[in-house]
Amino acid sequence: MGHPVSHSWSPFIHGMFARATLQHMQYRLLDVAPEKFRHEALQFFRDGGKGLNITVPHKQAAAELVNELTPRAALAGSVNTIRLNGADRLVGDNTDGSGLVIDLEQNLGLELAGRRILVLGAGGATRGILGPLLERHPAALVLANRTPQRAEELAADFADLGPLSTSSFDAIEGTGFDLVINATSASLQGQMPAIPAAIVGPATVCYDMAYAKAETPFTRWAHEHGAAAAFKGWGMLVEQAAEAFLLWRGVRPETRAVLELLNAPARG
Ligand code: ATR
Repeated sequence: MGHPVSHSWSPFIHGMFARATLQHMQYRLLDVAPEKFRHEALQFFRDGGKGLNITVPHKQAAAELVNELTPRAALAGSVNTIRLNGADRLVGDNTDGSGLVIDLEQNLGLELAGRRILVLGAGGATRGILGPLLERHPAALVLANRTPQRAEELAADFADLGPLSTSSFDAIEGTGFDLVINATSASLQGQMPAIPAAIVGPATVCYDMAYAKAETPFTRWAHEHGAAAAFKGWGMLVEQAAEAFLLWRGVRPETRAVLELLNAPARG
């Protein structure tokens, strides 16, 4: 359920998961305007729906709708998947952050513990990933945003969870981060956050949470500035879907085949 939603890859992804795990299910796109979200989501479950993925712009409204939030959804302040528990109890979860961490660690083989991570952006997408990233015990996590005040407000909610600091783009302290994650929505508008080139060194891995077939402005920038590698968010998309599928169906699908098809010929 989203608005707009026609661009979504989720029916393809969940269709492949269902075939691979022999699950008899249907997964459809529902384009629902914000003012109708609450009614339509409740109606979906009344009509026999078992699980719902939520995307932009409904993730916060979904957190307010459900009867119960998982701890990670409460921390994220947003819900990207809802499961029906028993006859009528709606449980809201957020698999975005774990999808990202699984992609980074398992698909891309990156170590997060002890590493210096820079996250760009301080909106809803960032809120969803801070908890799972800090759980991996990085040495430092710097949160930089075009509007620094927003980064400060966001960081205040996560300060107890790890070594988090905030910055404006031009005052980012530190060079050659181990990992730079673009969680801004700039790529969606074909734009590049105005960040200093020094944040990237020859060992830096860059990750754009946005996904597109072509390079994004951020992955192009990363390659041009000599990053070790630059990845788009296809893996996060597929892994968050697999985590949601697990919640609904009790089985975690293999993600490799789907990822290879979506992302052919190679990551990055
Ligand atoms: P989302 O849910 O995708 O995070 P959001 O809450 O609207 O969406 O947040 C968008 C984020 O992208 C913000 O951090 C925003 O920066 P500001 O807080 O300064 O607005 C960031 N952003 C969007 N376009 C950007 C651009 N062209 N350059 C840099 N940052 C950008």
